[in-house]
Amino acid sequence: MIIKMSDPMGFCFGVSRAINMAEDLSENGQIYSLGPLIHNVDEIKRLETKGVVTVDGLEENMDLPVLIRSHGASKEVYEFLNENGIAYYDATCPFVKRIHELVKKYLSLGKDIAILGDGNHPEVQGIISWGERISVLKDMEAVEAFNPGEELVLLAQTTLNKEFYDKALENLSKRTRLNAINTICSATKLRQEAAKELAGQVDMMIVVGGKASSNTKKLYEICKSVNKNTIHVENIREIIMHDFQKYAIIGISAGASTPDWIVNEIVEYLQNETVRSNLYMENLSMKEMMEQSSFSAPKRNEVVTGKVVMVKDDGVVVNIGYKADGIIPLDEISNPENLPLEELFAVDEELEVLVVKRDNGEGDVLLSSKRLKSRKDWELLEEKFNNKETVTVKITEVVKGGLSAHFNDIRAFIPASHVDVNFVRDLNQFIGEECQVEFLDFDRRRNQVVFSRKAVIEKERKDEMDNFWEGLEAGQVREGVVRRFTNYGAFIDLGATDGLIHVSEIQWGKVNKPSDVLKANETLDFMVLDFDRESNKISLSRKALSPDPWEIIDDNYVAGENYDGKIVSLTDFGAFVELEPGLEGLIHVSQISEDRIDQPKDVLSMGEEVVVRILEIDKDQKRIKLSMKQ
Ligand code: F3S
Repeated sequence: MIIKMSDPMGFCFGVSRAINMAEDLSENGQIYSLGPLIHNVDEIKRLETKGVVTVDGLEENMDLPVLIRSHGASKEVYEFLNENGIAYYDATCPFVKRIHELVKKYLSLGKDIAILGDGNHPEVQGIISWGERISVLKDMEAVEAFNPGEELVLLAQTTLNKEFYDKALENLSKRTRLNAINTICSATKLRQEAAKELAGQVDMMIVVGGKASSNTKKLYEICKSVNKNTIHVENIREIIMHDFQKYAIIGISAGASTPDWIVNEIVEYLQNETVRSNLYMENLSMKEMMEQSSFSAPKRNEVVTGKVVMVKDDGVVVNIGYKADGIIPLDEISNPENLPLEELFAVDEELEVLVVKRDNGEGDVLLSSKRLKSRKDWELLEEKFNNKETVTVKITEVVKGGLSAHFNDIRAFIPASHVDVNFVRDLNQFIGEECQVEFLDFDRRRNQVVFSRKAVIEKERKDEMDNFWEGLEAGQVREGVVRRFTNYGAFIDLGATDGLIHVSEIQWGKVNKPSDVLKANETLDFMVLDFDRESNKISLSRKALSPDPWEIIDDNYVAGENYDGKIVSLTDFGAFVELEPGLEGLIHVSQISEDRIDQPKDVLSMGEEVVVRILEIDKDQKRIKLSMKQ
């Protein structure tokens, strides 16, 4: 059976940002998620175990911080949180947030708004809460019945079907002066296109995701339309009800709210399906053999199963189904913490032991649990060594030339040069630490094991770097922390490495110094413009996250109206006024005052806030004529 994965699939940017926020916040204690963080029951359960408690509504005396999910929330929710002093964190997806901002802006300009989408969806409910002049159009029937008036601003739910958007646009643009802003998120479209293409190439298609997730349901419908052998499963528990034997190639896709671990469990299940039944048969016969052997005479070095008959101060008596009792003396019990034997053994408990001698001189069988444990630990360690696996050890003491570490009862050595990637002056700081290590040497005959902690750290760093670069795409929005400033820009910490934002990409309009706009250590979203792994260069932009103010000038500014602005330049013939970053206009000297003025600088100063009237907007020349006099 060949398994093919759709690419991209699973968590979109907004959902993974919300989940990461929830996980980070829950490290400091429990938090409330206002509504399910995503439409996936298994992931919600997993988050619950980490301290993310889902609540349906707000109460005045909420004792934990509240997390707003990626769908966003209504105006009333924000007001309630603020009025009641409830701490909250906002994980609203930036694409949804942008719709909220557009709605607020157009409502403040007195425009009528229509949003294409499902009025019952929490995202749309949050959006329409900002005002009354917003209509929700859920399908073409609603669009056709809608009276758009003379002028209309049209927006869309982020997960809207593009076909519906195009049809609605065509219909409404014939009936009104339409300002349509496409707010559909490409994450959904990309996942749908990739899944559809894969469904057409495979014998069977599995769509993984929550039954309440609308984007998963849509993904399923799209795949089903090209491949009738398409199934929708929520998790591995549902997959085992299906028969896959007759399919040679199986495709897998997942909704935007499906976590990777659920998909991985399913893939692993499919890969192991045949192997599993064979293993079951093998295990069964081994168990039967063990049962039989427990009644025959014990042999030296044999492992037998027995039942504890008595726990004494000097050892444990075990019934191993032989005519004589078995005895485990104190020195054959692994007890590093020196606990009372009653805490380690209970009467009637079943346990495995190693036969040391059939007769200990007093007619009892001498048994050992310590030697069996040690044998198993060595076998396990040898297996890990052969498989080149990493091992978890506990560092116990500083010894000559390095550290001593324990894998259960097995003592190993970590040379000082293999403790960390950097030189460490005082090794005592590692005592008591549990850490991952790699083998440097393994010699069971000489009871010698040498580990490297440094090798694991180096590998983790390399993996982190590889994952970072492999996941990087131009056009992506990444969170970063502003770190260092230069004259030409600022370095942004993106986690695995730094990116650079050039001064011209910080915002629309002129920026003198990057530190005039950005603050050190603040966390912001940045768009990846370009990158080159070989030279370790990543170009970032904040400007690209918002539209060019000249492109939407008609939406925000009207000739004949008054606006606030700031003097940014003074010349002999007039003063330049910034209406917003990237948008400047000129007040000619004759338009400054009723009185005669020789020089604009006689009456105006740099940075002064002024009220100006727009006389004329010339979009082709990108010029705005302003007047203070009027
Ligand atoms: Fe945001 Fe798009 Fe996901 S709007 S929540 S990135 S589907």
